[in-house]
Amino acid sequence: MSKYIIANGDKPAALKGKVKVQGSKNGALPLIAAAALTDREVVLNNCPDILDVENMLRIYASLGGNYERRGHEVRLKMEYMNSHEIASSLAGELRSSVFMLGAILSRAKKAAVAYPGGCDIGLRPIDLHLKAFREMGVRIRDRYGYIQCDASNTSAAEIDLDYPSVGATENIMMLAAGTKGTTTIKNAAGEPEIIALQEFINALGGSVSGAGSSVVRVKGTEDFGSATVDVDFDRIVAGTYMIAVAMCGGEVIFEGADGGQLTALISKLKAAGAEIDAGQKAIKIASDGLPRAVGSVETGAYPGFPTDLQAPFGALAAVSSGSTVIVENIFETRFKYLAELTKMGASVKVKDRVAVLTGTGRLTGASVKAMDLRGGAALMLAGLKAEGVTVIENGRHIMRGYEAPEEVLSALGASVTKV
Ligand code: UD1
Repeated sequence: MSKYIIANGDKPAALKGKVKVQGSKNGALPLIAAAALTDREVVLNNCPDILDVENMLRIYASLGGNYERRGHEVRLKMEYMNSHEIASSLAGELRSSVFMLGAILSRAKKAAVAYPGGCDIGLRPIDLHLKAFREMGVRIRDRYGYIQCDASNTSAAEIDLDYPSVGATENIMMLAAGTKGTTTIKNAAGEPEIIALQEFINALGGSVSGAGSSVVRVKGTEDFGSATVDVDFDRIVAGTYMIAVAMCGGEVIFEGADGGQLTALISKLKAAGAEIDAGQKAIKIASDGLPRAVGSVETGAYPGFPTDLQAPFGALAAVSSGSTVIVENIFETRFKYLAELTKMGASVKVKDRVAVLTGTGRLTGASVKAMDLRGGAALMLAGLKAEGVTVIENGRHIMRGYEAPEEVLSALGASVTKV
């Protein structure tokens, strides 16, 4: 069981220096899934070295793919897809395993996946994915804890999503990429990861347009080739560390980060008192470490305030002067970290999807437990600001998405170790 230990004296360190932001988790995962569309080689550069990617690569390999990782370059090749089934031992580790369904169906015309695991942050249904698949002619049965799909008789369709789900949009794009005719996805998610997936499928020889807007069109083909792509920077990781600077004070430049993907966070951090210079290739943030409460923060679909940054922002709110109202609109149980934060001295009131945090002036180190990925990151930020020693149990959750955070933060002047 990995733990993170953050050791501060009575005056936590300000953060200073430069960070080359890692590649995006949510960008890389669908690209690994889409790599299963082709029998030719795919190269992903800037692929983050994190647990979720490792697990996705294991799933890719279990289907018949080979991969080789050299640093942040991952070479993948699946000459033959010799299994169409994702076992429960693999699916249990990673909810994104279900995002593989579309690609497997495109290629093998049948798929079976055990009900997914991953972050326990809500009901996380996949009904939108399955409804769209059915509209494209996929026959779906639930058997023995597996979702079994038969795509031997699919056709292009016009799909109108009830909600712009990121995963459903990606899954449908991958099924449609290998389905004859043109599929239209209305009310599609507009996240940067959707644009990256479009570019990748097109680089493989597919034909996708409209990503980034609410209507995505996918013309199917069976002829996919090879491609080399760069995984984009991780906007959530950049955002998490930017919040750390706003909390602890100091000055940090985030290299490779595009401020255009973080506008909602940047405006809140400025309201909290940070100075931010955001370009397309780097973001500089400076803070005196005395943040002010920003009133309210409400999560929403891109370009709204990302739900993935709600918990890290909660840590900031816990040390800001005044009260902050946080509304979590996307995932109903993303407030679990708040009970842990109170062990460190945070003042929190929660009801349903609304939390009110009032700055208490100081947090103190405690032994706390990461309950999910972003909640774990929030505890790490709180630990950076707390007096004394903070121990974060269940560090594995943090390792799912953050590449060596102990090294990144220690290089900026903090004292973080992993044991
Ligand atoms: C992705 C991201 C996750 C991020 C989320 C929202 C990955 C690997 N994960 O998750 O980090 O927090 O987008 O930006 O990219 N929903 C349904 N039915 C469905 C699908 C989703 O009701 O079939 C609901 C979910 O319960 C949730 C909302 O829609 O309330 C948003 O989910 P979605 O956009 O699908 O998130 P993910 O793709 O799972």
